[in-house]
Amino acid sequence: MSKVLVLNGSPHKNGCTATALQEVILTLNQEGIETELLQIGGQALRGCSACGFCMKNGRCVFDDLVNEAAPKLEEADGLLIGSPVYYGSPNGAVLSFLDRLFYSTPFSKHMKVGAAVVSCRRGGNTASFDVLNKYFTISGMPVASSTYWNQVHGFTAEDVRKDLEGLQTMRNLGRNMAFMIRAIADAKEKYGLPLEESDHFTSFPDGK
Ligand SMILES: Cc1cc2nc3c(=O)[nH]c(=O)nc-3n(C[C@H](O)[C@H](O)[C@H](O)COP(=O)(O)O)c2cc1C
Repeated sequence: MSKVLVLNGSPHKNGCTATALQEVILTLNQEGIETELLQIGGQALRGCSACGFCMKNGRCVFDDLVNEAAPKLEEADGLLIGSPVYYGSPNGAVLSFLDRLFYSTPFSKHMKVGAAVVSCRRGGNTASFDVLNKYFTISGMPVASSTYWNQVHGFTAEDVRKDLEGLQTMRNLGRNMAFMIRAIADAKEKYGLPLEESDHFTSFPDGK
């Protein structure tokens, strides 16, 4: 059975972000996709220290939820990230977690389907959405989209339940994500994964 790893970056386990995520989760489940939810927000998560430990050891030097999530991401066919907006960006816990998760894991994320969901009271959703999508697009992960940018508005879960278009966007996202996961699984069988070149790592224009 295909599986999506879901990360709730909000410290509120049953808040606005969780309400949006639950709508996607429900739809994914209805479409026959299994989900596993990890609560990221509210955890003491530090940022990447750029120590290079992971380059040699294939895991983060800080042995916390990031290393617990890594094998779950490796086996998943998709990743769904939810974050509240803090000062126009995804919140700090989400960014610390994702920097370390994506940087420290040596396995390929190629063709795992990614989707981000954001929640704000008034503004900053699209900027935060853009930030989260960049983790996918640097990793060869196709991004599932919906009928609007994947956002809800609210200060409480109750507000989000009244954001009917936001919830509709979440359900459409879930269906599109499920479709992409199934289509990619079929395409892998038929064509195999596309080649990913990785010979070059050019930091300066002269290639040194
Ligand atoms: C530190 C902090 C910063 C916030 N910054 C913004 C912001 O820039 N724009 C906004 O519309 N809401 C902002 N909010 C409100 C939350 O993003 C919003 O209420 C969100 O839907 C809460 O989601 P949650 O219930 O999943 O935590 C902020 C909240 C906090 C705690």
